[in-house]
Amino acid sequence: MDREKQLERLDEMNAAALAGGGEARVRRQHDAGRKTARERVDQFLDPGTFRELDRFVLHTCQDFGMADKRIPGDGVVTGYGRVDGRLVYVFAQDFTVLGGSLSHAFAEKICKVMDLATRNGAPLIGLNDSGGARIQEGVASLGGYADIFYRNVRASGVIPQLSAIMGPCAGGAVYSPAITDFVAMVDQTSYMFVTGPDVIKTVTHEEVTKEELGGASAHASKSGVSHFTTPDEDACLALLREMLSFMPQNNMEEAPRKPTDDSPTRSCPKLDELVPTNANKPYDIRELITEVADDQHFLEVQGDYAKNIVVGWIRLNGRSVGVVANQPEHLAGALDIDASLKAARFIRFCDAFNTPLLVLEDVPGFLPGTAQEFGGIIKHGAKLLYAFAEATVPKVTLITRKAYGGAYCVMNSKHIGADLNFAYPTAEIAVMGPDGAVNIIYRRELAAAEDPVALKAELVEDYRVKFANPYQAAGLGYVDEVIRPRETRARLIDAFESLDTKRADGPSRKHGNIPL
Ligand code: HXC
Repeated sequence: MDREKQLERLDEMNAAALAGGGEARVRRQHDAGRKTARERVDQFLDPGTFRELDRFVLHTCQDFGMADKRIPGDGVVTGYGRVDGRLVYVFAQDFTVLGGSLSHAFAEKICKVMDLATRNGAPLIGLNDSGGARIQEGVASLGGYADIFYRNVRASGVIPQLSAIMGPCAGGAVYSPAITDFVAMVDQTSYMFVTGPDVIKTVTHEEVTKEELGGASAHASKSGVSHFTTPDEDACLALLREMLSFMPQNNMEEAPRKPTDDSPTRSCPKLDELVPTNANKPYDIRELITEVADDQHFLEVQGDYAKNIVVGWIRLNGRSVGVVANQPEHLAGALDIDASLKAARFIRFCDAFNTPLLVLEDVPGFLPGTAQEFGGIIKHGAKLLYAFAEATVPKVTLITRKAYGGAYCVMNSKHIGADLNFAYPTAEIAVMGPDGAVNIIYRRELAAAEDPVALKAELVEDYRVKFANPYQAAGLGYVDEVIRPRETRARLIDAFESLDTKRADGPSRKHGNIPL
């Protein structure tokens, strides 16, 4: 074959691969409000940086007429490229080719980029849009899934792994995204479930639509499986890029600093008025978070789930910081099962990837009730405690108001390894609130009193003066410094800078046994 013909052949092969499942299926994909795999990859990466691997891989199935249904690339686009100039590996399932269903060859392509990403210390991003296991391939396809799951687990805590769900993701296929660090779903056009509506109807007689069962909103607010919902694919791809900007490339590095014109010593007078003088009045802790953040920017994670705790990233003088904050606006900021799980997972991500933690504390305690106790608040609350205690990244706590009871210990107290603890003058650090405390310790006196209401008011006031402030804790060294709210940004930046060189090695062990 002469050179020209060789090049012609390459052009033809490339054209066949680029065509995916063909014009009609591409049109169907667009009509459903979805982009093709290649369009997604091109939009996600810095322009012109995508290097595709395995473009000509074919499946090997001969059964069910599959020998005639071979499209180069076999339904998944894989390779590497750059996001803000930083290396990332990516795979994008192509629904136009056999419904993006996963063959053995398809799985091998994904495994190849997973191995490269792990070895080279670069994030892995999966864009999911698939009908699941390639039915014609039987167990070879199931084996392919398991090969991927194994790599997800091996890469966990080594490189950031992000998943976008941009179409169907059903059956056992859900477990790869579930193991990854963050899941983003596109509203209305994506869904995830282990068993779909038809199976559910047969087994439990429940009637539910795909959207109700596994749409973005269900997973954002009910199951907590997803971390982000975006209105469309463009927003989803932009979000993935933004998330990466807060993360290091791997567990041996730190997130890149982002220069800012926001002064590190900027005063925040607004914060002097944030915490209400009435201890039972709610306020929005996100106001504090945005007020102290560089350029007032906060990327919240799981904003629609367990709203009584707020987690996400800010930057402080350019440094990426993970925030975990009780939210007095919901359930008075009490800790429950969902809040414990949400925060524990985020803390462990930050710790695995060298991201310092800022904890904002205003917590009246754990949420009471049989639903919580029977649901296992003991073991789930323990996860939060465990996550804080095992984290070795720089950890700073600021107590804005209540730090009561067990929740005081759990929320990154000095005792479980916080490096620097601050409190506002409005902080109340005690075994419980004044009302409850007086009812218990003065039960007899109150029962015998001529005017129990007046006596109680007096005792409550007495308790408040003694304990409902930060000074007993500060006197014991459990709070390092009581600060003026307007100085918060400057003090936090200074604190994290002082912890830049922190060293913290624990005893050698295979792994701990977090109470799962
Ligand atoms: C082979 C598949 C396929 C699959 C879809 N296709 N899913 N081919 N294996 N799993 C093919 C279709 O035959 C069709 O081919 C093309 O993809 C598009 O599918 P449509 O059905 O036309 O699309 P749509 O109407 O949008 O419906 C999408 C869908 C549906 C809801 C995903 O295709 C579907 O229900 N697929 C089967 C889903 C499933 O049961 N998968 C197995 C789950 S179990 P043509 O040639 O006509 O375009 C599983 C186990 C994983 O995944 C275990 C891991 C441990």
